[in-house]
Amino acid sequence: MPDLMINGTKFTVDTSNDVPLLWVLRDQLHLTGTKYGCGMSLCGSCNVHVDGEIVKACTFPASAAIGREITTIEGIGQTPMGQEVQQAWTEQNVHQCGYCQSGQIMSAVALLNGNPNPSDTDIDIVMFGNLCRCGMYNRIRKAIHSVSES
Ligand code: FES
Ligand code: FES
Repeated sequence: MPDLMINGTKFTVDTSNDVPLLWVLRDQLHLTGTKYGCGMSLCGSCNVHVDGEIVKACTFPASAAIGREITTIEGIGQTPMGQEVQQAWTEQNVHQCGYCQSGQIMSAVALLNGNPNPSDTDIDIVMFGNLCRCGMYNRIRKAIHSVSES
């Protein structure tokens, strides 16, 4: 069985039959901060980073992450940008039900790592793939801008 490097720790997991990364994270490793929403790459609630890039874990084969660095919501707070984004989320009171928020934070961190001062359009382009049934889009945008300003 292959190893996956997740949040800086090596895990031996079953990645057979192209099982999606989300099932490995949630069912095998009990890292349940990454959420299942649509299962079809449409909502972004399952977003994690693989080598710093956003991937949708519900459709991304775990086998494709072998030898790469996976970061989940459980580990993002250990990075400087992850810490800043989580703090901004708290200060702006972004959460409502919270279901979409781990995916939103993973997208925001990837956005800000690549573009520390994004415009509204830049934010919309990257965050477009994250749906929020509670409609917290304005607060999400405000929190991202507050990280830029800091
Ligand atoms: S659960 Fe993966 S994009 Fe919706
Ligand atoms: S905070 Fe409820 S779905 Fe986004």
